[in-house]
Amino acid sequence: MSDDSVLIRNNATGQEVEYPLLKGTLGNHTVDISSLNKDLGFFTYDSGFVSTASCKSAITYIDGDNGILLYRGIPIDQLAEHSSFLEVAYLLMNGELPKEQQLHSFTSEITHHAMLHESLRSFFDGFHYDAHPMAMMVGVVGSLSAFYHSELNMNDPEHRRISAMRLLAKMPTIAAACYRHSVGWPFLYPRVDLEYCENFMNMMFSLPSQKFIDLAHYIDPVAVKALNLLLILHADHEQNASTSTVRLASSTGANPYACIAAGIAALWGPAHGGANEAVLSMLAEIGTADRIPEYIAKARDPNDPFRLMGFGHRVYKNFDPRATIIRKTCYDVLEKLSNDDPLFELALALEEYALQDEYFIEKKLYPNVDFYSGIIYKALNIPVDMFTVMFAIARTAGWVSHWLEMMAEPTHRIGRPRQLYVGPEQRDYVPIDRR
Ligand code: SDX
Repeated sequence: MSDDSVLIRNNATGQEVEYPLLKGTLGNHTVDISSLNKDLGFFTYDSGFVSTASCKSAITYIDGDNGILLYRGIPIDQLAEHSSFLEVAYLLMNGELPKEQQLHSFTSEITHHAMLHESLRSFFDGFHYDAHPMAMMVGVVGSLSAFYHSELNMNDPEHRRISAMRLLAKMPTIAAACYRHSVGWPFLYPRVDLEYCENFMNMMFSLPSQKFIDLAHYIDPVAVKALNLLLILHADHEQNASTSTVRLASSTGANPYACIAAGIAALWGPAHGGANEAVLSMLAEIGTADRIPEYIAKARDPNDPFRLMGFGHRVYKNFDPRATIIRKTCYDVLEKLSNDDPLFELALALEEYALQDEYFIEKKLYPNVDFYSGIIYKALNIPVDMFTVMFAIARTAGWVSHWLEMMAEPTHRIGRPRQLYVGPEQRDYVPIDRR
């Protein structure tokens, strides 16, 4: 029996089988049990996939106990300090930081593909003004494949590359269009003279009726810097629910636009990317610091479905490193944009109270990436119902990177989990007059 294996014994029959222990670059070793069903006739059961590695990946590494997050080996705090969202997107997609010319070409291609097909504008007319922007984004992104018939051969690496670039390029344009539709403003086109985040802020807030107004009014450098940072911090996060959704959809050979739309749908849930919107609603409901104990008690009550939004994480049992960076940025942004936001003060008070509460200490519940991000989005005048849309723009970099990684694997197979069946034994049909 070697150190590089694990023995599984069926005590009922005495049968023993060794399974290889796969060792990655960092993190937990992984037992390869792919032949378990054939060898011993067993499935494994792991509700919520707490102990299950669904794939091999070289993109992102998380150490939840030590609050470590690496994109292609580079610590998130270094990327947050020195990089830009498009440079991080290049890193995630290609595995290395770009050289200057590579970044220039990448940025130019993204800018070139930022436009939407003109007939997509009428697509938005089908939504009521008060449709949730995530509902619009899911529909519009899913429809993109209708415009690119000639480049959907997923066996062609160039078709895969251009599809990934189109998605990354068009998400801000689609996001801004969702917002403009909700407020009844005309859509603005992306501009070739603006960088990614500047373009987004311009498409969101600039008004064609305001001639010659100083563009800086809409693309404040403080706001653009903060937005770049938030997009970097949300760009990828290993096999989270929405990324796993993209991988599972992609394993069937579905087109990338449909797969990313599936990821957007999964991200929308309040347990996942929808938490940033839910945090602001929760803070508004709490209202004042004197009501914090009441809500902490609700969060602790096993019979109360209320959870403290923005707290807890499947992997981080220590501080989410992204939350730490965002928390600091809140101070900078609110000070520079002179947006004193009482909700920030309330969030700080809530964090302080929760971190001293034995329930949160015992269950290792810390603020996650969603706890403070909404405070900054709000300071940038981004509406609350657009917060998860912002998360989707950023996570598109991670989603397309995982999609490219998976589609490049010659041995990738359709994902098809099994189950523990707990339904009725076989029984006969009963005619309706005898039921
Ligand atoms: C994201 O996976 C990722 O990487 C996600 C993400 C990414 O970048 O992709 O990091 C982004 O989704 C961040 C998480 C945003 N969601 C929230 O902030 C919603 C609030 N948090 C919880 O719903 C919860 O903490 C989860 C969903 C984040 C994690 O759920 P788990 O891992 O399944 O944990 P759990 O539900 O098993 O909780 C363990 C215990 C439970 O109590 P017991 O059953 O053991 O008695 O902790 C309790 C939970 O009730 N608990 C909470 C809580 N979170 C967990 N109690 C109160 N408030 C909370 N927020």
